[in-house]
Amino acid sequence: MGTREVIEKGKYAHHTIKEIHEQSLTLLKPFQEFNDFQNFCEFMRNASNVYITGSGTSYNCGLLGKQLLSRFAKIKTEVIMSSEFQYYSDSLEPNSVVIAISQSGETADVLHSVKKAKENGAKILSIVNVPTSSLARMSDSILTLNCGPEIGVAATKSFMGQLMIVYKIVNILSSGQMPFDDFNQRDLLMMVKKVLSSDGIIQNLVSSLDTNIKDIYILGRSIHYPIALEGSLKIKELAYIHAEGIAAGELKHGPLALIDKESVVVVLNPIDETYQDVISSSNEIKSRGAHIIGISNKKNEVYDRFVELPDVDSYLYPILEIIPLQLMSYYLALKKQVDPDYPRNLAKSVTVK
Ligand code: G6P
Repeated sequence: MGTREVIEKGKYAHHTIKEIHEQSLTLLKPFQEFNDFQNFCEFMRNASNVYITGSGTSYNCGLLGKQLLSRFAKIKTEVIMSSEFQYYSDSLEPNSVVIAISQSGETADVLHSVKKAKENGAKILSIVNVPTSSLARMSDSILTLNCGPEIGVAATKSFMGQLMIVYKIVNILSSGQMPFDDFNQRDLLMMVKKVLSSDGIIQNLVSSLDTNIKDIYILGRSIHYPIALEGSLKIKELAYIHAEGIAAGELKHGPLALIDKESVVVVLNPIDETYQDVISSSNEIKSRGAHIIGISNKKNEVYDRFVELPDVDSYLYPILEIIPLQLMSYYLALKKQVDPDYPRNLAKSVTVK
């Protein structure tokens, strides 16, 4: 290991855990003068259709954006993963905007989608971490995460930055129906720090799990579902364990057949209108003997293990609940003795189609 590597990682063993903890420093970085949120939102207001595209983690962020825009700003969007975008581009209306989300701004699938969209006359709005990237240069308006270089292949702090930008956009387009001002943001920062301080609790939790876990399911409804998907992506990438994010209501339509006493099920269940339904699903799972890890601001006897979240306004929970999942993925990787920074077969930026 070179000296530079040691310095860059500081007191941390890996870039990934450093970047997870750095989230408290980078959280509010998108809110700098150079990010013209009003201009970005003006393009959205003037469009007849709004599409969102991205790959991997960035796609998951888009899914949350869809839910929040629908609920608070009453804006209908279509989220299409970039590798599938080309198959829909024939029906793209000229007065559309395509919001392309990409940490690197170099993902080939995203660039290809944007090229197709431009050919059809759509305006391109992008959310990137690299303002000089190819994607940024192809865009009519950009917002940058400004979270610094992300070295770990699995996206962590960039996802957080993307979420913050999405929340701000929804705040503007909902005319404040979804509060997200300086005060909310500072409060949120304190809560993010609080959740990050549960690092030791998550480490213990992971060490108590069976080393040979084959499958982990993550359940969540509504705004928690995209986080369930993102958490499962993190577990796959970092720990090479099969993990699946499931919309809790879909359990009865198939996935329940997979649940047995070997299964580990994480439920994302802060108190909101989805709480009781997710408890019912948890009971279904429990009766099949699975091990349940509840992530919530309210304890319930159905959980075998409990990760406590602080109280925040319910629409903000996605920002908090991803943190225990990131930490869990990291410690699962260590438990399996694999390198969390550079997962096998994966690249930080996939520049080929
Ligand atoms: C690769 C990485 C993923 C990432 C995806 C999108 O597949 O392994 O972690 O989410 O690319 O990257 P982007 O830079 O476009 O956000």
